[in-house]
Amino acid sequence: MFFTSLCLLLLAGNGQMVQMDPSKSGFVGSQVELRCIFSNSNPPVKISQVTWQKLLNGTKQNVAIANPALGVSVLPPFKERVSFKQAAVRHRTPSLEDTTIVFSNLQLSDEAAYICEYTTFPAGNRENMVNLTVYARPMTRMTLTRPTIVAKPQKSKMTVATCVSANGKPPSVIKWDTRLKGEATHQETRNQNGTVTVWSNYMVTPSRETHRQKLTCIVTYRNEKITDSVVLNVQYEPEVKIEGFDGNWHLNRQNVQLTCRADANPPVTIYQWKLLNGSLPSNVEIKNNTLFFKGSVTYDLAGTYVCDATNGIGTRTGSVEVNITALTHSLPSVFSYPEFPNNPTPGGRGIPQDYVFGNGYSRAGGLPAHPPIPKNLQYPDDSDDEKKPAQIGGPGGFEASERDFDAEAEDLKRPYFTVDEGESRDYDERTLAFQYDPETEIADDMISQTDGSVISKKEWYV
Ligand SMILES: *[C@@H]1O[C@H](CO)[C@@H](O)[C@H](O)[C@H]1NC(C)=O
Ligand SMILES: *[C@@H]1O[C@H](CO)[C@@H](O)[C@H](O)[C@H]1NC(C)=O
Ligand SMILES: *[C@@H]1O[C@H](CO)[C@@H](O)[C@H](O)[C@H]1NC(C)=O
Ligand SMILES: *[C@@H]1O[C@H](CO)[C@@H](O)[C@H](O)[C@H]1NC(C)=O
Ligand SMILES: *[C@@H]1O[C@H](CO)[C@@H](O)[C@H](O)[C@H]1NC(C)=O
Ligand SMILES: *[C@@H]1O[C@H](CO)[C@@H](O)[C@H](O)[C@H]1NC(C)=O
Repeated sequence: MFFTSLCLLLLAGNGQMVQMDPSKSGFVGSQVELRCIFSNSNPPVKISQVTWQKLLNGTKQNVAIANPALGVSVLPPFKERVSFKQAAVRHRTPSLEDTTIVFSNLQLSDEAAYICEYTTFPAGNRENMVNLTVYARPMTRMTLTRPTIVAKPQKSKMTVATCVSANGKPPSVIKWDTRLKGEATHQETRNQNGTVTVWSNYMVTPSRETHRQKLTCIVTYRNEKITDSVVLNVQYEPEVKIEGFDGNWHLNRQNVQLTCRADANPPVTIYQWKLLNGSLPSNVEIKNNTLFFKGSVTYDLAGTYVCDATNGIGTRTGSVEVNITALTHSLPSVFSYPEFPNNPTPGGRGIPQDYVFGNGYSRAGGLPAHPPIPKNLQYPDDSDDEKKPAQIGGPGGFEASERDFDAEAEDLKRPYFTVDEGESRDYDERTLAFQYDPETEIADDMISQTDGSVISKKEWYV
C-alpha cells in the first residue's frame, strides 16, 4: 500500500502523500488509533484543511475536521469518542502534519472504512483510507442438559451437553473431544449488530458405558481456544452376576457361598435371593449380597439360585445353577446362564424369539423389587457335554469369547460370566450393541451372553 501510493505519487510528480495503515481492528469497548500522516514536499505545500470521513455502504459521513485558521471540530455522534492524538493539532495555529485520531470505546457500528483527506494549495486534494474492523468477544459456556441422565432401554439418542458461544464476531467454531460415540449438531444465528451465536448439542445413547465418560467442548474464537469439560453421570439398572460357584461343590465341602455382584448407578439397595422351584436350604444365611451355606455341602443345595438386584432405576436378575457332585475331581461344568426375561412371551419356549440374553431390561424407571420369574422358563438340557468352554464359541469361532476363556483360567471354573468393569474396554463397541441395542449386529440365530460373547441358538437348544 505504502509503496504503491509512493510510486503513484512519484510518477505523478508530486512530493506529498497521506500515510495510513491499510487496516486496523479492535474489540468492542477498546481504543484504537487511526494513523494519518502527511508527508510534505520541499518546498512545502500549504494545508488548507484536513477532513476525516466514515465511508459505509458508499455513503460518506464527516467525523472530524481540522482547519489551520478555525481550529478543530469533532462531529456528533463521534464527539465523545474521537479526538486528535497530537495536541499540536488543537493549537490556535495548528500543525496539521499528523492528524491521527484516537477512537475510544469502540462500537460494532464503528466498523467501516475511514478516509483522511488533505486539502492543499496549490497541489489539490490528497487522501488515503483505513479499514476498521470491530471484534466482539463471545460469551462461551458448556452446560449439561441434566445433572444426571437415566439410561433407558429404548435406543434413541439424547442431548447430554450443549456448548454455546454467544454474540461473537467473527463467529466461533465449536468442536467436541470425547471417547463417547455420539453425534454433534451445529446451529448458528446472526444478530442484527453483526455478531453470531453458535451452538452445538452433543447427543449420545445413555448407557452403562457412557457413565463417567468425559466430554470436552473446544471453542475456537480467532486464535484462541476455550475448552470446557464435563463428566457424564448416567444412571442405569444393575448389571448382575453371581460369583462363588466353581463347579466343584462336592459332598462334605465346608462353608461354600454365593455372592451377588451388581454394577449399578445408583448403587443397589435391595438384593433378593431365591431358589427356583424351591425354598432356600435351611442352613443358609444371608448377609448383604452373600448367601453363606453353613456346614457341609449336601445334595439339598442343588438348584438354580436367583438374585434380584434393585436400584432406583430398576431390577435385574442374575442366576447360577448349582450342581452337587460326589467326587472331588470332576470336571467343572462351565455353562453360561441367561438372565431371566421379565416379560416372557406366554406359551412358546418361554424365551421370546427376539429376546437377547443379557440384555434384560426389566422395565424403565424404578419399579417393584420382585419381578415375576416366568413359570414356563426352560433351561437348555444340561446332560450332554456340549457346554465345555472350547465349544461355547461354537462353529465359526467367536474368538473374543474363546480368548476370554483362555485368558481367565479362573473363569473356567465358573459357570456364569458377565462383563467386568476392567474388561469393558474390550467390549466398548460390542456391549453398547448387546446391552442396549439388541437388534443390531447379532444375527437371528445368535444369542449374546452376559459376558458380551455370542453363542448360536442351536447350542442353546440342543
Ligand atoms: C477496505 O474495505 C473496502 C470495502 O469495504 C475494500 O474494498 C478494500 O479492499 C479494503 N481494503 C483493505 C486494505 O482491506
Ligand atoms: C448497508 O447496505 C446493506 C445492503 O446493501 C444494508 O443491509 C445495511 O443496512 C446498510 N448499512 C447501513 C449502516 O446503512
Ligand atoms: C449484539 O446483539 C446481541 C443480540 O441482540 C446482543 O446480545 C449483544 O450484546 C450485541 N453485542 C454488542 C457488542 O452490542
Ligand atoms: C419348575 O416349576 C415349573 C412349574 O412350576 C415346571 O414347569 C418346571 O419344569 C420346574 N423346573 C424345574 C427345573 O424343576
Ligand atoms: C454389608 O454391606 C455394607 C455396605 O456395603 C458393609 O459395610 C458391611 O460390612 C456388610 N456386611 C457384611 C456382613 O458383609
Ligand atoms: C448338573 O445338574 C443337572 C441337573 O440339575 C444334571 O442334569 C447334570 O448332569 C449335572 N451336571 C453335572 C456335571 O453334574
